[in-house]
Amino acid sequence: MKNIILTGFMGTGKTAVGREIARILQMNLIDIDAEIEKSEKMTINSIFEQFGETRFREIETEMIKKKSGMKNVVISTGGGAVLKQENMKMLRENGVIVCLRAAPETILRRTGSSEDRPLLKVDDPLQKIHDLMNAREPFYEKADIMIDTEDKTPLQIAEEIIDRVRMV
Ligand code: S3P
Repeated sequence: MKNIILTGFMGTGKTAVGREIARILQMNLIDIDAEIEKSEKMTINSIFEQFGETRFREIETEMIKKKSGMKNVVISTGGGAVLKQENMKMLRENGVIVCLRAAPETILRRTGSSEDRPLLKVDDPLQKIHDLMNAREPFYEKADIMIDTEDKTPLQIAEEIIDRVRMV
């Protein structure tokens, strides 16, 4: 089976869904943000604060390069990983790209209480979500499989992805 690559905006449930898929299919889950935090020994927040987004994107690409060659894994990416064609090309070599979707209001609700989304630490996070989502839409829609996550549990979403991936 190909690797399953989870993409999508912050708060679409990539990590939670990735855990379910990995459990059901007995695959390892690689969470790119978590791997970055481990290897840099810093939170994503501190990387943004101390070095800025451009440096974070370089580190993200380095980590994707390291992990995309692995086989039989589920890879959960950060919401901005789709922005670089280079990232998606590496991930696609061994994997099928899945994009999780949700409405901006749902994203706000899901990310609202979490302090670890540096890009959403602004006065009007809902507006920021709208703006980022519009700008990123052309990148997200390049995925092989699109999944709507509204009103579904991570388990339901995982099962839907597994069914769809088997058909690809
Ligand atoms: C980002 C999403 C975050 C993290 C970083 C940047 C983005 O990951 O990589 O804060 O640009 O959308 P999640 O999508 O897991 O929140």
